[in-house]
Amino acid sequence: MNVYDSEQIAKGLEFLQYEMTPFLEKADLIIVNTCAIREKAEQKVFSFLGRLAGLKKKRPDLIIGVGGCVAQQEGAKILERVPHLDLVFGTHAINRLPNAIQAILTKKCRIVDTQMSDQIKEMDFSANGYDTKEVSRFVTIMQGCDNYCTYCVVPYVRGRETSRDPEKIISEIRRLVQSGVREVTLLGQNVNSYGMKEGLLTFPELLRHINDIDGLLRIRFTTSHPKDLSQDLIHSFKDLDKLCHHIHLPIQSGSNRILKRMNRKYTREIYLEKVDKLRNTCSDIAITSDIIVGFPGEKRTDFQETLDLIRTVEFDGLFAFKYSDRPNASAARFSDKIPEDEKKKRLQQVLDLQEQFTTRKNKTLTGSTQSVLVEGFSKKQNQINKPNSSQNAQWTGRTSTNKIVNFYNSDDLKAGNENMMGRLVNIKILQAFSHSLWGKTNGKEPGCFGLRGEKSYVA
Ligand code: 5AD
Ligand code: SF4
Repeated sequence: MNVYDSEQIAKGLEFLQYEMTPFLEKADLIIVNTCAIREKAEQKVFSFLGRLAGLKKKRPDLIIGVGGCVAQQEGAKILERVPHLDLVFGTHAINRLPNAIQAILTKKCRIVDTQMSDQIKEMDFSANGYDTKEVSRFVTIMQGCDNYCTYCVVPYVRGRETSRDPEKIISEIRRLVQSGVREVTLLGQNVNSYGMKEGLLTFPELLRHINDIDGLLRIRFTTSHPKDLSQDLIHSFKDLDKLCHHIHLPIQSGSNRILKRMNRKYTREIYLEKVDKLRNTCSDIAITSDIIVGFPGEKRTDFQETLDLIRTVEFDGLFAFKYSDRPNASAARFSDKIPEDEKKKRLQQVLDLQEQFTTRKNKTLTGSTQSVLVEGFSKKQNQINKPNSSQNAQWTGRTSTNKIVNFYNSDDLKAGNENMMGRLVNIKILQAFSHSLWGKTNGKEPGCFGLRGEKSYVA
């Protein structure tokens, strides 16, 4: 979500003739986009801001702004804490950012804008902002959240759940596709409830419209709340040819007692039932999840139930976090807090257990052929430098199930490293690692299959 917001911020600043620089020391304007989801993320913001003091001292005209969730949460307090800061703007103020910067330039003032609204203010980027070299992009379809999980800061910093107009979403995706994008990831805190409040399309209906966009090859989405995962959405995995076979379905805990204290509104039994339905409908679907360890009151027996659930589901991947108190979130006021060293131990146990499943799942793919959307040169290739015609290029992409595949094109030596970006290619998996796969193009010609019926599609 912050990646998408940062892009919006950058587009807004283009209107003021700013352009991106990779050199912090050369910037005339620095915007720090922040995350408040866990305590650690927030701590990072303040240590980074501290490091900018020297730059401001050397160049007093430098403008420094803080946006995102920490800005929304702390507001004017950040100006007090960070004297070299010019601007604090909240999660609903991105569209007003160009005006704020202009005011700072002309009036040399400090500004705080954390006003929230129940409506989404669309930014008009008709003139620019779609020129991208990337194959895969995020598209926000809704903002905010109404669920109030007791550990979570999101409802307080992102506001009420509001869905974007489907026409705006679809036209944004069309324009991204025109500029070479082949995959979109639709973003929302709980995409399953898209459009419900507004009486717009349902989420599966929106997916069907997006599936019809010519030139788009893949659709992903995140995040899905288990309580709202509908039968209709489950069926979309079978019915929509562009919808990737991956779902991120955060469970948070395997203990019903803790799920209740978290206000998650489902039980482990309901969760397991949904996992079964997903797998019965789409046999190769990859399922990933989030776990919080050390939630207030989590006993050893509760934690054992989480480990047991991880063994039962055999997730393809897991993000695990130590619980941390968040301002306003009601769990911050719960008693029975778990000591830090115990949380650390539990986190390690979860990570060690999951590592076995991730590796095992990857290993089962060796020898298979996977359809991979090519995103660019692999990290290793970037480190070596660009390939020349006597070298095999190393490319990177993802399977439909969201596994990273690094590969070389076995025909490159003859073909002179043809551009594979944005193409769906068949890759034979030769080796599996814990977090990626390694392979080569399958057969003499790269087996490309692009838009319905077309042999290949070059971005
Ligand atoms: N402490 C630890 N983890 C948290 N998450 C959200 N809030 C907290 C918190 N207070 C995790 C949840 C969520 C993910 C994005 O971050 O697992 O799904
Ligand atoms: Fe936070 Fe719960 Fe909303 Fe997710 S569903 S953003 S965890 S309140």
